[in-house]
Amino acid sequence: MQKVLILDFGGQYNQLIARRVRECHVYCEVHPASKATVENVRAFGPIGIILTGGPNSVYAKSSPSLPKEIFEMGIPVLGICYGCQLMAHTLGGVVTEAGENDAREYGRTVTHLDPNCILFEGFPEESITWMSHGDYISKVPEGFTVTGFTDACPTAAMAAPARKLYGVQFHPEVSHTDGGIRMIDAFVKQVCGGTGDWLMEDYVTSATKEIREKVGDQKVLLALSGGVDSSVAAALLSRAIGNQLTCIFVDHGLLRKDEGDQVEAVFSRMDLNFIRVNAQERFLSKLAGVEEPERKRKIIGEEFIRVFEAEAKKIGKVDFLAQGTIYPDVIESGLGSAAVIKSHHNVGGLPDYVDFREIIEPLRLLFKDEVRELGRAMGLPSALVNRQPFPGPGLAIRIIGEVTQEKLDILRDADAIFRNALEEAHQNESIGQYFAVLTNTRSVGVMGDGRTYDYTLALRAVTTDDFMTAKWARIPYELLDKISGEIVNHVPCINRIVYDITSKPPATIEWE
Ligand code: XMP
Repeated sequence: MQKVLILDFGGQYNQLIARRVRECHVYCEVHPASKATVENVRAFGPIGIILTGGPNSVYAKSSPSLPKEIFEMGIPVLGICYGCQLMAHTLGGVVTEAGENDAREYGRTVTHLDPNCILFEGFPEESITWMSHGDYISKVPEGFTVTGFTDACPTAAMAAPARKLYGVQFHPEVSHTDGGIRMIDAFVKQVCGGTGDWLMEDYVTSATKEIREKVGDQKVLLALSGGVDSSVAAALLSRAIGNQLTCIFVDHGLLRKDEGDQVEAVFSRMDLNFIRVNAQERFLSKLAGVEEPERKRKIIGEEFIRVFEAEAKKIGKVDFLAQGTIYPDVIESGLGSAAVIKSHHNVGGLPDYVDFREIIEPLRLLFKDEVRELGRAMGLPSALVNRQPFPGPGLAIRIIGEVTQEKLDILRDADAIFRNALEEAHQNESIGQYFAVLTNTRSVGVMGDGRTYDYTLALRAVTTDDFMTAKWARIPYELLDKISGEIVNHVPCINRIVYDITSKPPATIEWE
C-alpha cells in the first residue's frame, strides 16, 4: 500500500495535513519527527514525506531536526513552514529571525507563486496563502530555486525538482490558502506518484487481516455504547474474529427514543456475542434526588463501570480489551490538558476494572469521517453511522435537576419530534448537534379552556467544526413554529418551548 509519512514538529495544523493527504485517497500516518531515522523511514517505506510546521526556530540549539540523509534517500519531501525552514537550514541555506515589522507574517497574505512549479501549476500570479512565521529563509540552499515570495518574505516557496524536494513557508493545509489542497494533491500524486486508490474497502480488508493476526484465537471484550466509534469498532472486530468478540452494551436508560432497541437490533444479528444489560432501574435509583450536574455525571460514570465490571467478571479473563479510540485522540494524546469544564465520561475503555492482557484499538488510525465511511463500507445502517455525538451520561444532562422516569419519557418524545422534523426538512446536514433539553422551570399556560402549569422545553441546535466552539443554528422560523406546535400537541406536560440562542462560549453545547 502506498503511504505518505508525515513527520510532526508540533505544529497546530498537523492533523489537517493528514486529513488533506487522505482526502487525495492516499494513506498517510503522522509520526513524531524526533524519532525519525534513515532506518525507520526506510522500514516504513513511504512514497513521500511531509514535514509539518512547529513552534521552534531551526537555529536554536534544542530545536528538533532531522538527519540530513533523510533528504538524500530519493524520497520526495515537502516541508511546510518549520519543515520548509528546516529543509533550508539542513541543506545549507540560511534561516533568519525576522525583526519587528520585518518579514514575519501572520494570516492571509498575498503571495506570488511560480506557475512553472509543479505544485502551483495553473495558479494565478497572485494568490492568498495562510502564513504563520517569525523566521524566514533569507537564502535557499544550493540547487534550490525560489518558487514563491511575498512583499515581506523573499522565500514563500522553494524547490529542487531534480531532487524532489519542495518547501512552502505558508500552510497549504488550511482552507484560507487558495488552492492549498491542489498543492498537496500535486505533491502526493505528481511528485510522489500516488495513485489515489486508497479506499475504505481496502482498509476493511487490511484491518481485518491485521486484527486476525494480532488476536489469533484469543478473546476480545468491547464496551459498546451505540455511538459511532464503538459501533464501527464492533462491526470491524466482528468481521475479523466473529464470536471471539464479546460486546457489552450497558443500557443505562438514558438513551434517546428507541436507541437501545436499535443498537440491539443491529448487533444481535452480527457474528459476535452481544450482551445487553438492562440497567435502567439501577441508574434511576442512584440518580434519585440528585440535582447537581457534576454529581449526576460522577454517579453515572461510576455506576457504568460497576455494571460493566460485574458483567465482565462473568466472562472471566479476556485477552484483549477493545477501544474505539480514533486518530485525533491518538495525535492529541500527550498534549497538556485544558481546564476541566465538565467531567466527560466516555464509555470507551475501562482498563482499571477488567481483567485483560492488552488493548486493541482498531480505529486508531482513522479520522471521524473515515470511521463513518468505514461503517458504511461494512453496511451499518446510516442512522447509526451518521449519529451525532451523544454524551456518555445521556439524557441525564439534558434534564435539568432531578432525573425521573416521567421526565425521561417527556424528553425522549419531544427530542424525537425535534430531530425528525430537522431531518425531514434536511436542516440537519449543516447542523453539528441538535437536541431538546427539559428545563426544570414550570410556567403557566392555557390549553383548551383550562390553565396549565407545565414544563418549559428548550431546543438546542449548533453548527460547529470541532465542538470546542459553536454557533447556534439559524433554523427557519417556520420550521421552529411547526416543531413547537407538534411538540405541545403530542407531548404531555410541556406548555412552553424556547430556542437556545447562545453560542459556545459563553454557553456550552449541553446544558449541564
Ligand atoms: P459541551 O457541553 O462541553 O460539549 O460544549 C462538547 C461536546 O462534548 C459532548 N459531551 C460529552 N461527550 N461524554 C461524552 O462522550 C460526556 O460526558 C460529554 N459531555 C458533553 C457534547 O455532547 C458535545 O458534543
